Amino acid sequence: MRIMITGGLGFIGSHLVRFLLREDPAMEIINVDVLSYAGNPANLADIETDPRYRWVRASIGDHDAVAAVLAAQSVDCIMNLAAESHVDRSILSGAPFVTTNVLGTQILLELARTYHVPRFVQVSTDEVYGSLGPEGWFAETSPLNPNSPYAATKAAADMLTLAAFRTYDQDVVITRCANNYGPYQFPEKLIPLFITNGLEGKPWPLYGDGLQVRDWLFVTDHVRGLWTVAQKGRPGQIYNIGGQNERSNRQVAEALCDRLGISRSVITRVADRLGHDRRYATDAQKITKELGWQPQVNWEAGLEQTVEWYREHEKWWRAIKSGEYRSYYARQYGTPGKDSPKR
Ligand code: NAD
Ligand code: TYD
Repeated sequence: MRIMITGGLGFIGSHLVRFLLREDPAMEIINVDVLSYAGNPANLADIETDPRYRWVRASIGDHDAVAAVLAAQSVDCIMNLAAESHVDRSILSGAPFVTTNVLGTQILLELARTYHVPRFVQVSTDEVYGSLGPEGWFAETSPLNPNSPYAATKAAADMLTLAAFRTYDQDVVITRCANNYGPYQFPEKLIPLFITNGLEGKPWPLYGDGLQVRDWLFVTDHVRGLWTVAQKGRPGQIYNIGGQNERSNRQVAEALCDRLGISRSVITRVADRLGHDRRYATDAQKITKELGWQPQVNWEAGLEQTVEWYREHEKWWRAIKSGEYRSYYARQYGTPGKDSPKR
């Protein structure tokens, strides 16, 4: 089986590539990744010489570059993870989010049709549903009500994916996952930012009252869910993926202080995020009942593994935080092409 993964040099994409190569000795992976600020070849250093794996440095917004890949060999499935993924960056400027998350997805959908790719998996997020009050969960039937520019572009991509199903009978499936955590997450997101700030002796910026709630899922459970949906999901369907593991940001911060053995006084209240969603909680019964997926890594074990990984991979995150990795990759691979998001 040959799979095209987009965004495979990012956090979740790199776990997915590694998982699939382990899962099936006959698996071949083509990773289309433009190497944005969030992409990092070091995330796949352990498998980069595997003959079953190939990285093509291209933007999903570059029609001709992606077409050239699909024209050269058939692929059985496209799994689209490439995205601008950070809410705070989308608040500063939404334009790169529209380019990659919306236009990029549409271009991929069209190319998947042109080259008769049998299946398209759109990797979306529970953030498309907006914000919950203290009760209830997001179901696949919940209305779309995105608040941040990031979430709005992901919702737009979902709509385009469903339009491809309804208009052309294209075989597509959509996943909407809760917040992920684990090794290789870029240290601008809550958990790796706080862990690495803790290891550097820096304060932890907790937005607003810190009582916003997220549903946290360990990244390897997400990628197993993605593969389950890719293999068994019904065409045109949406599958939530979640951990039933709700924590307020303050609870997350306190749990991390305890694991790291540092004083909770590092937790520093700062101005709230604009339009900050109060609560996410995902009802994942559909994927469990229909496809048999369940999370396997509980919060305590996942957090332990994550903290240990960041302790042991200081070189990885220090190069990111110092900006050193960007100049290194610019020297090695050149500056990003004109299709890559500007920042
Ligand atoms: P990430 O930011 O760590 O990685 C994104 C990857 O996409 C990077 O390797 C980057 O180089 C690549 N990329 C960016 N623009 C591109 C373009 N135009 N063409 C090709 N490659 C491009 O993101 P992540 O956290 O791994 O998220 C992956 C996907 O999962 C995203 O679609 C995101 O919306 C979704 N998701 C993430 C979470 C989460 O908690 N992180 C939860 C649910 C869904
Ligand atoms: P984040 O990891 O950016 O994920 P998302 O916005 O997609 O949920 O943020 C998780 C939560 O943590 C969110 O409620 C915002 C909050 N947060 C902070 O309080 N401080 C921070 O420095 C960051 C990055 C996030």
